[in-house]
Amino acid sequence: MTHQPIPLLAAQLRSATRALHAEVERTGVMPDLLRGELPVDGYVALLRNLHAIYATLEPALMLRAGDPRVGLVCKTDLFRLPALESDLTALSVKNNWLKLPVQEATLAYVARLLNASTEDPVRLVAHAYVRYLGDLNGGQVLTRAVSRLTEHLRISCVAFYDFGGKTEAANHARDLREALDALPLTEAETTSVVDETLWAFKQHGLIFKALSASSTGPSQDFSV
Ligand code: HEM
Repeated sequence: MTHQPIPLLAAQLRSATRALHAEVERTGVMPDLLRGELPVDGYVALLRNLHAIYATLEPALMLRAGDPRVGLVCKTDLFRLPALESDLTALSVKNNWLKLPVQEATLAYVARLLNASTEDPVRLVAHAYVRYLGDLNGGQVLTRAVSRLTEHLRISCVAFYDFGGKTEAANHARDLREALDALPLTEAETTSVVDETLWAFKQHGLIFKALSASSTGPSQDFSV
């Protein structure tokens, strides 16, 4: 009897999330963002919610960098928090973005990250995959979209998607995939990372829907 080789982690994650990716791209605020039609305050609200995620994820990855099951995907040169803060500061007056609401769905994401960090750090691998490979891959398209929706402001606010150029982004994505594949995970841990990745995609969908619902309220002027 011949045994099929078990696909490496990066390939498993890609095939497990293909359908959900297609769905989440079309959910809530995402289509408007992609078309360059999201109002600036809607984009600031999105970044503010992503900030809450990265402000939890990145310290959690740092905390667990010494864990061999996690350490390889703790890549500080990919960290997005400084870029997010730079864009948010550029796009809002007197750091008003800090007063914007963090959606319940985002708070649930933050709670999940905190729980993973303390109880089951291997699940952080899923979140590093979802966020950083998403940013590295979708970044080129989204940079153009965000440039369109903010061009009238004449300020620079696309640091979030800037990894130093197309080649650099592709190299980072390759390195991250290799890091995922090199993690010494048991079969059970691999399954747990795949499950956590599916949860993370679905929860992004809920966040995007909540942001879309909240943006139908009265417009708040956070732009410069
Ligand atoms: C409208 C927004 C988006 C666009 C335009 C976009 C675009 C892309 C593209 C072009 C790829 C490369 C696909 C490939 O190599 O076959 C990709 C991959 C990826 N995206 Fe997105 N994406 C978007 C939203 C998202 C969101 C919201 C997430 C996370 C929740 C996400 C997570 C990922 C991940 C993890 C990958 C890597 C897949 C892999 O190769 O394993 N993307 N995206």
